[in-house]
Amino acid sequence: MSQPRDGPRLLFEHSSTFMTDISAVEFRNVSYRLLDGRDILHDLNIDVRRGEILVLLGRSGSGKTTALKLVNRLLEASGGNLLIEGRDSREWDIIQLRRHIGYAIQDVGLFPHYTVARNIALVPSIEKWPAARSDSRVQELLQLVGLKEDIGPRYPHQLSGGQRQRVGVARALAADPPILLMDEPFGALDPLTRSDLQREFLSLQKQLGKTVLFVTHDLHEALLLGSRIALLEDGRLVSIGSPKEFLQSQNALVQKYVQAFGAADQVRGGM
Ligand SMILES: Nc1ncnc2c1ncn2[C@@H]1O[C@H](COP(=O)(O)OP(=O)(O)OP(=O)(O)O)[C@@H](O)[C@H]1O
Ligand SMILES: [Mg+2]
Repeated sequence: MSQPRDGPRLLFEHSSTFMTDISAVEFRNVSYRLLDGRDILHDLNIDVRRGEILVLLGRSGSGKTTALKLVNRLLEASGGNLLIEGRDSREWDIIQLRRHIGYAIQDVGLFPHYTVARNIALVPSIEKWPAARSDSRVQELLQLVGLKEDIGPRYPHQLSGGQRQRVGVARALAADPPILLMDEPFGALDPLTRSDLQREFLSLQKQLGKTVLFVTHDLHEALLLGSRIALLEDGRLVSIGSPKEFLQSQNALVQKYVQAFGAADQVRGGM
């Protein structure tokens, strides 16, 4: 098959979307200012390449969640441009945009009066999937995130915090969106379950080739999962690069992180 000469380079195909070398998400000089005039994000420039896991790392209050919310327009940037698949997010139909982007939110945000199964099937039901397809997708996802099938009819208050968090991840994956925003999705899990899920997630992502913006304040998690790590501090991008580059960085703040986590020997796939 010959490639179009002047179109973007075709790398591979995913669902109905053609994968090209355009970034999946691009922050161009993005800023976010509160109504009281306080700047939360300053002149952010980050490009998230297709199929990568870009980790946003930073201490509490550094602006990680705010940056994610700008991507699916839960918040509107005050300055700059956010491009999704090469198109300004403001030009996207909001419904299309949200279907394109799965979001596992920090505080999970399950509907308390919906069962687990109904929570997971939220987007499939909006998209009017037949019941059988939706039910089998729910079962598949429960298994994927390490939950038993019999949890489906329960309500969120009948689950542990870690179980709720996994339901949140399953919901984000339900309609197979090409882009995922994940805000500390494994934060409430015990270390063993967390480690299992991190590995599961990594192999899943490799298999499905999703583009992921993954928020954490845990450097070990960032090194394990990230193809690149973007470090935020007070709403500014301090550094962006591969885990190896992060560990070898001369930047003082990056070095502080590496020391604080005792992470000098740890990197995805070894060094
Ligand atoms: N609606 C809001 N009104 C006022 N301040 C806000 C609002 N949302 C966020 N902030 C402030 O913006 C800053 C960045 O918040 P954000 O939630 O993006 O941080 P974060 O990096 O996700 O932190 P954490 O790791 O604790 O989740 C913080 O100082 C926070 O207090
Ligand atoms: Mg946050």
